[in-house]
Amino acid sequence: MKIGIDKIGFYAPHLYVDMNKLAAARNVEPEKFTIGIGQEKMAVAPITQDPVTLAANAALIILDEEDRAKIDFVIFGTESGIDNSKSGAVYVHRLLGLNPNARSVEVKQACYGATAGIQMAKGHIALNPDSRVLVLASDIARYGLNTAGEATQGAGAVAMVISADPKILALEDQSAYLTADIMDFWRPIYSDFAFVDGKFSNEQYVLFFKTVWEQYKTKTNLGLNDFEAICFHLPYTKIGLKALRTILEEASEESQERLLANYQSSTLYNRNVGNIYTGSLYLSLVSLLEQSEQFKSGSRIGLFSYGSGAVGEFFTGILQPNYQEYLYSEKHAELFASRTEVSIEEYEKMFQQTVPVDGSTAVFGSTNDPAPIQLKGIKDNMRQYENKTN
Ligand code: CAA
Repeated sequence: MKIGIDKIGFYAPHLYVDMNKLAAARNVEPEKFTIGIGQEKMAVAPITQDPVTLAANAALIILDEEDRAKIDFVIFGTESGIDNSKSGAVYVHRLLGLNPNARSVEVKQACYGATAGIQMAKGHIALNPDSRVLVLASDIARYGLNTAGEATQGAGAVAMVISADPKILALEDQSAYLTADIMDFWRPIYSDFAFVDGKFSNEQYVLFFKTVWEQYKTKTNLGLNDFEAICFHLPYTKIGLKALRTILEEASEESQERLLANYQSSTLYNRNVGNIYTGSLYLSLVSLLEQSEQFKSGSRIGLFSYGSGAVGEFFTGILQPNYQEYLYSEKHAELFASRTEVSIEEYEKMFQQTVPVDGSTAVFGSTNDPAPIQLKGIKDNMRQYENKTN
């Protein structure tokens, strides 16, 4: 039985910062951000968007009534969750009016969470071929103002329906994975900001990629020429290219050209959204599928997932016939086209505005957030959400 991605959509907040202007404000040459790091725009979340609303808004784009009835497992991958006990999945389940007979959980392992979710979903569908699983990947990446990591922030979510006989990408069974206890990036429970050893994290990312790639080749006897494209976890768009270049010579000249061209398509959305942590790999997949010419059915796509701390996995999928008909390209184009730029001053102000943590009541009434699902405030330590489509 084929199991894989039946639907995939993303949502990013309606506000962004221009990286050239951020560079000017930080006294950095713009090319460092736009070429050295490879980012053009960075999505900024207003106070009315948190990881729950971002995930719910992403899911709203793709779900229909049949999905709502058939989804019996909601898996919410995040590393910026809003509660140390209750899962974001339960909130999304209610906001979207899903079938009550469902399991709902949150999965955490830095940017690897959603990949773990997909693998769990695959097992669930193998046992329950008629059901569907909603996998959410949602994060707000925050390193702090004036930090080295600031240029690699972002906000957004990807939602995927995993099912039997998927319309987009059938996941293959062989994959290669690796765990090592390292401190390249982490966020203790008491901290709003991530701690990061930037250079070490870059080194480990590439090392993990090379290690799982070698393991994958040994397991499968496949090589780089067997791939139409490879998507990477993209905290910033330059890093995947660095990883790809370490193995590129294994491919024929023709394959090298193809992989490099497809790499560019796979980074366009990320370049304009920024790091969305666990959703980044899947945003890259959406970008590849929506921004490339149609690939032949049966083409193989590689996916490299990396979650600091660290877990890495290389896995693959096969594109299904007419997959392009089932993408949400127009909705995503509208989303990009309707965004508003904010000045650096406005971004800094928004960055410092946080949900109260002292039990006080707050109402976020007067923002211009166009998102259908929003955080309206907090009362008695409970976040108050609204789905305007209800
Ligand atoms: N024109 C063109 N390029 C320029 C330039 C200019 N004027 N000035 C600098 N550059 C280049 C540099 O040469 C460098 O390129 P190379 O890496 O190819 O040498 C690049 O711009 C970045 O410059 P620096 O290395 O000096 O940048 P930095 O030290 O200030 O910060 C960073 C870069 C380490 C990525 C930092 O943004 C950071 O810590 N980010 C968060 C951590 C991160 O994203 N790590 C990735 C792996 S971990 C992971 O994947 C999990 C996750 O999501 C966090």
